[in-house]
Amino acid sequence: MDRIAIVGGAKLNGQIPISGAKNSAIKLMAASLLTDEPLRLTNMPRLADTRFLGKLLQRLGAEVVEAEGPDGGETLLTTREIVSGFAPYDLVRQMRASFNVLGPLLARTGQAKVSLPGGCTIGARPVDLHLKALEALGARIDLHEGYVYAQAPRGLKGAVINFPINSVGATEHAMLAAVLADGDTVLENAAAEPELADLAECLNAMGAKVSGAGTRTVHIQGVSRLHGATHSVIPDRIETGTYAVAAAMAGGEVRLTRTRGHLIQSLIDKLIEAGVEVTTHDDGLTVKRGPDRLRPVEIETAPHPGFATDLQAQFMALMTLADGESIIRETIFENRFMHVPELGRLGADISVQGGEARVRGVEALTGAQVMATDLRASVSLVIAGLAARGETIVNRVYHLDRGFERLEEKLGACGAQVRRLKGDGVEAEVE
Ligand code: EPZ
Repeated sequence: MDRIAIVGGAKLNGQIPISGAKNSAIKLMAASLLTDEPLRLTNMPRLADTRFLGKLLQRLGAEVVEAEGPDGGETLLTTREIVSGFAPYDLVRQMRASFNVLGPLLARTGQAKVSLPGGCTIGARPVDLHLKALEALGARIDLHEGYVYAQAPRGLKGAVINFPINSVGATEHAMLAAVLADGDTVLENAAAEPELADLAECLNAMGAKVSGAGTRTVHIQGVSRLHGATHSVIPDRIETGTYAVAAAMAGGEVRLTRTRGHLIQSLIDKLIEAGVEVTTHDDGLTVKRGPDRLRPVEIETAPHPGFATDLQAQFMALMTLADGESIIRETIFENRFMHVPELGRLGADISVQGGEARVRGVEALTGAQVMATDLRASVSLVIAGLAARGETIVNRVYHLDRGFERLEEKLGACGAQVRRLKGDGVEAEVE
């Protein structure tokens, strides 16, 4: 299993191109199951998670062809026929988003058997809202031995679905199923993350009739069939935010390209509050940090457009060197402070009570061996390592490979001293 070694202290100066969004790409790939015609996805990130989902889709009957196009990675997905409606435990457990094949399978063939995903390191992460949404659309759902057996022999029917909380996965799942339902569906109190609007744009290019995606109310007029399309994956706002924080941590001036500042407005506001200079432009944003210590800032994670939970660990790493005490509240996942003890190994002074962390800024961090626990926690350790004295080694890098494309290369091009240490003989496990 690979490790990443970072020698801290180098400023970051240069340009980083942002990849297509992982969390959009994997739902768009699932959408390809809804048609027998080819779906061409461009600006595709090449990540462990997209490769993994590609394998699952192939088992279900998809032909998956990867190529390099003028706009970066392209993936052509064609599912002429669903050859299996079965997604086994081993595959769904390894990547939770695989669960979202349930809706498209059900919508296209009227049946599916998909494993329940189970919890993961950041929380219990139930799928009750996904199942309630599918039931509201007329599916019969039975749970046996860890599997969801879903049936809709006469097809799905449009419905009004009012979500009690904003769930990204459940909103996407309902959308993926309702596009082929008979009649109209309204999703109320929907999640409004930009990836929802991206999914709707792709579905509409395939012939669906979805409006309002990216707001709290989504209208879907069911259609009887979808066709092939070409769609460019939205820029990865979490990768954008991660490199923005990395530049703020290391100091220097970094231009993030092929992205859009408004995708991370809540982060930009907090960076500016902390004393970082951020300017947005047509193709992205520039982040500049001078020699002064940053000011401490209070953040609370919230559904979009609030502060993204997927940027909480990175921002906490930044605040470890602020001049005073920052408060960081996590409201989306109940166990998303796994990076705290690891940041502590680097010399950070953080205490946690329930969903609230108090980060008392220190003068300096010192490099050490640390353990990555999940994707975003891992990258927060890389960020801390960029400013720590000496060498930081991040173990279990497979977490990073799930969601960050060419991380060492992108940071290295801006002057960071980051290198990958190949395999240490320990088998990778995927959550
Ligand atoms: C998506 O997860 C992302 N994953 C997560 O990113 C992200 O942190 C999260 O949205 C919030 O933005 C993907 O897109 C693959 P939710 P998702 O449903 O859809 C509760 C990363 O690092 N809930 O919006 O699973 C849930 O437990 C990952 O890339 C229910 O109670 O998140 C949580 O507390 C990590 N019942 C809250 O809702 C349900 O049926 C929001 O979760 C579903 C969710």
